[in-house]
Amino acid sequence: MSRANGEIRLRPNKKQLMFITARQRYIGYGGARGGGKSWAVRVKAMLLARRYPGIRMLIVRRTYAELQLNHTRPLQTLLRGQADYVERDKEFRFANGSSLMLGFCDAQSDVLRYQGQEFDVIFLDEATQLTEYQFQTFKGCLRGVNDFPKRIYVTCNPGGVGHAWVKRLFIDRDFRPGEDPDDYVFIPAGVRDNDALMASDPGYVENLKSLPYALRMAWLEGRWDVFAGQFFTEWNESVHVTEPFDVPDWWRFYVTMDYGMDMLAAYLIGVDPAGTAWVMREVYDGRDLGEGHDGLIISRAAQKVKTLAAGRRITAYLAPPDLWNRRQETGRSAADIFAEHGLRLTMTSNDRFDGWMAMRERLKVVTDERGQPSAGLRIFRCCPNLIRTIPLLTYDADDPNDAADTPHEITHGPDAIRGFCVYRTGAAKRPAVRRAWTGDMWQDYRAADPDTRRYLLERWGEPANDPGKMG
Ligand SMILES: Nc1ncnc2c1ncn2[C@@H]1O[C@H](COP(=O)(O)OP(=O)(O)OP(=O)(O)O)[C@@H](O)[C@H]1O
Ligand SMILES: [Mg+2]
Repeated sequence: MSRANGEIRLRPNKKQLMFITARQRYIGYGGARGGGKSWAVRVKAMLLARRYPGIRMLIVRRTYAELQLNHTRPLQTLLRGQADYVERDKEFRFANGSSLMLGFCDAQSDVLRYQGQEFDVIFLDEATQLTEYQFQTFKGCLRGVNDFPKRIYVTCNPGGVGHAWVKRLFIDRDFRPGEDPDDYVFIPAGVRDNDALMASDPGYVENLKSLPYALRMAWLEGRWDVFAGQFFTEWNESVHVTEPFDVPDWWRFYVTMDYGMDMLAAYLIGVDPAGTAWVMREVYDGRDLGEGHDGLIISRAAQKVKTLAAGRRITAYLAPPDLWNRRQETGRSAADIFAEHGLRLTMTSNDRFDGWMAMRERLKVVTDERGQPSAGLRIFRCCPNLIRTIPLLTYDADDPNDAADTPHEITHGPDAIRGFCVYRTGAAKRPAVRRAWTGDMWQDYRAADPDTRRYLLERWGEPANDPGKMG
């Protein structure tokens, strides 16, 4: 960008020009780091504001700090004399009535701030840092009763929590019902496409070359297949999450937990006769364990675990090996204290590789005998933290076999479940009850969906009579 006679001269590179002239509803742009994405976002926003007086636009980054650094300041320079920046509203207001708001979306719930707002054009800069849920919510904000274009610009680098959905829509073009392929276009950008950067910082490419293999392939070559951001790409909420149902007493029950200084994540899991594990209840909190010495806090944790298990005969309370570490001050371990409160813990393996493999195996979506998608691990909707955090786990940047242990908050639930999956849990044995079903029972059974049928079979036992002979 250069200024001559006060007028800005902008020279987009070839790929940026494709970005600026694209007309689809969803425009993906990216690949390598440094391709010139954020620059293109700012310039496109400026051009749209001039062309459509009164248009409402939003630029989103994941964090406030990134927003300030990447956009607020550069925009103040770019828009000098064209728009005023209103700090309180984080909004650039153009003289012709157009507006450009700046937003961020750090926590999953931050997106709710935008729910109900209307924008004509939304730029998600570094969209691979956003979850699919956040993307879906922004899609809902794309509306307005006017003739302005309605578009979401999605810039991205491979990796990050949003890797899977960005790759599905823009790279693999693997569309789901309701998604129109003609609405989506992807413009690949390599670092070498950015002539401005190549001229001003020739060492930039050398820096990218010194990264670990996966990151280097992703950020230098823009490869989407090497560095898969999301750890459990098997995750599919419509299969793994189910509405709670009454679980028969004769299933096998386990409690599995992750317990650390400030956090208890514990799950009640019922295993059915087929060996499928149903995560039925969740305890997930640290704050209300309260203050106090170890013993006191652990006694409160033990109480919560007991409440979680209430009413079920538990085959084993599973916990990771670090609960057996002895505290220096007391000589006792957390497991000792749990035992004093009547909970004898069973140590699971802490081998992360084996654990994740076992969990992956359980999450794999298969087609069951009735032709329905199913998996070895299903989760009741009343376990929101587990449902939230499993899809957020990303790959460790240095170890393609491991999940990253940051942000730490998202690891507690998956760690607890990993401990369960790696432990050899037995399937429940169905009690040998067979009874004659009435005509009503057959009718209910025939009308039921697969989950309800499973439940009915458990409740009534296998039928001892033939439906054909019923009246
Ligand atoms: N057409 C252009 N003219 C002048 N400078 C440009 C142009 N395109 C990009 N730049 C500059 O190149 C540098 C990198 O561009 P930009 O920050 O847009 O890349 P990016 O793809 O967003 O990078 P990252 O992947 O790190 O977010 C910036 O300093 C930017 O101002
Ligand atoms: Mg950028």
